[in-house]
Formats: sequence, C-alpha cells, structure tokens
Amino acid sequence: MDTLSIRRPDDWHLHLRDGDMLRLVAPQSRHFARAIIMPNLVPPVVTGAEAAAYRDRVTAAGFAGPLMTLYLTEDTDPADVVQAHADGIITAVKLYPAGATTNSASGVRDFEAVRPVLAAMEKAGVPLCIHGEVTDRDIDIFDREATFVDRTLAPLRAAHPALKITSEHVTTREAVQFVQDHDNIGATITVQHLMANRNDMLAGGMRPHFYCLPILKRATHQEALRAAATSGDPKFFLGTDSAPHPTHAKEATCCAAGCFTAPHALSCLAHVFEEEDALDRLEGFTSLHGPAHYGLDANVDRITLTKGAALDLPDRIEAHGQSVTLFDPGHPLYWHVEDNA
Ligand code: NCD
Ligand code: ZN
Repeated sequence: MDTLSIRRPDDWHLHLRDGDMLRLVAPQSRHFARAIIMPNLVPPVVTGAEAAAYRDRVTAAGFAGPLMTLYLTEDTDPADVVQAHADGIITAVKLYPAGATTNSASGVRDFEAVRPVLAAMEKAGVPLCIHGEVTDRDIDIFDREATFVDRTLAPLRAAHPALKITSEHVTTREAVQFVQDHDNIGATITVQHLMANRNDMLAGGMRPHFYCLPILKRATHQEALRAAATSGDPKFFLGTDSAPHPTHAKEATCCAAGCFTAPHALSCLAHVFEEEDALDRLEGFTSLHGPAHYGLDANVDRITLTKGAALDLPDRIEAHGQSVTLFDPGHPLYWHVEDNA
C-alpha cells in the first residue's frame, strides 16, 4: 500500500505556548482539524475567561480548531468550570500533579482538595485529562507512571465512576493495562513514545531532543504502546504532546522536557503503523477514536498519505525570533502528507 486516504486527523494533546512561540508553532499543526490545547502557560490558563482569551490568541496565530482546557488548581472554582464547559469555551480540564512536568508548579498536591471540582465535573459531564505521574523524589523517574496508576488513578477511577478520564501520554504497559481494564477512560499516545525508547535517548550519547515527560521507557513498554495504538481498540488515540521549547533550552546543561513533533507527526505515525503492518488502522488512531471518546463527530474531509522519496525535513524551524528543533527519529521518513485544505 503506497497511498492512503484517511479522515482528517485531530491532535488530542498539543502544546502551542504563547507569544512568538505560538506564532511559530500554530501553523505547524495545519494537517490537524482540531486539537486539545494544553493550558500549562506561565501563568497557567485557570479560568473560563482566560481560556476564551487564549483561544482567540491561538486562532489569530493560525490554528483554526482549538479545543481549550483549564489547568486544575486547588483553588479552581467548580462553578466556573461547569459554566465554561456549558458555554462551549472548554472541552476538558487538565490535572497536573504539582511538579510533574513543565510549568506544573500550580498543579495539585492534595487530591482531596480537588474532590469538589471533580464531583462537579462528573455531574456535568466535563472530561478530565490527567498527567499520570507521581512526583515523590524517592520514586525512580522510570517508575513514576506505574506508581501513579496504583496510588492515584485507581482510587480516583473508583471514587468518580462517571467522570470521563483521558490518561494522557501513556508510556507503560501498566497504564495501557489499566485503561483496557476500566470503563470510561481512554488514553492518548505520543509520536515519540511509539517511535523511541530510552536506548534511543541514552545509548551512545545523551540526546536532549528525545527527552520528554513522562520519560521514554524500556523497549518492552514501547512494544506495549505500539500494540495498543495499532490494535484498533477505540480507547487509544493520538495526542502528539508536541511540546516545543527553544533550541537553546533543549541543548542545555539542564534540558527542558518536550519533543516537537507537530510538523511531521503523521509521517512518523504512518512509518510506525506500516512497520506494524497496521496501516489500515491508522485512521482509527488519528481520526476516529479521539472524537468518539470526546463525544464529537469525526472530521468529514480527508487527507492523503503517499509513500515516496525520503522526506527532506529541516533540522529546526526559525521564525518570529524563535528557533525550535524537530524531533528526529534517527532514520528517514517516507510518508508524505498531501493536503488540499
Ligand atoms: C510538556 C511541556 O513542555 O509543556 N513536556 C513534555 O515533556 N511532555 C508538558 C507535558 O505534557 O508533560
Ligand atoms: Zn503535554
């Protein structure tokens, strides 16, 4: 199969930032109709009014389909969340354990403190997106997701059975298993976690552009993610987690977490699905399962992927005084996106 026509994809986990970086990256998600826009700005997007203002900056910068989220804090007002959802301003609320990742300092420390918000969301049908890692210094960074599943996600699932949950960027066999075994929970999977494992990041030299959170795991977990993504199970769908940082912040003594994959995400995914002999399931993962999870219609228009000569991708994109380096899987990519939009 050298040509593939699929419904236009959506990205269910995207960082677009703000200001000059927003202006640089917003047009890079052009093949996606819609995207869940993560709220971890500085300061974070906490209220419905802030989400509406950010949405307008996103569309002005050139991304037409933002689905906004609120950043859950221990001070979040349940009434504001429910109202913003009822008004169509937000699609979901994002929970960051405090300190888990980039700009998560205002996140949740005490899960009891956010119970009233979660209860209101459960009642009003507002989905919760979760960054599923514990932040305890005594838990090894490679174990933080599996520990979160046991300690936090399982009790939360039990306490709020009607709350729709998206387990963001799952990276382990344990998280995949939990999602498969429970109701009313789906999961996004990123491009980099399908394409790479910790050897790609650490063997033969340390490669900062592979560094993201949750951190890349060992190959057996990568295999579990590939199996889930290509299984056709509607619980699993694409969230690129494309997370741009300035090139100088990535290539630094203390490198920022995040891989910038938006421009070539679909070429990467077609590569993975072809390797897994599952190109016929790519459309489900990129274009059908996500809308179904969020109760939305799939996009009607289509894009075409064609296999051809190796893609000639730039190392980095520079504009508006910013520089962002593309995620490089370490081998050529052959799938081109033909997009007549
Ligand atoms: C994200 C970022 O840079 O905003 N970084 C990352 O490594 N994925 C935050 C996140 O999604 O954890
Ligand atoms: Zn993210």
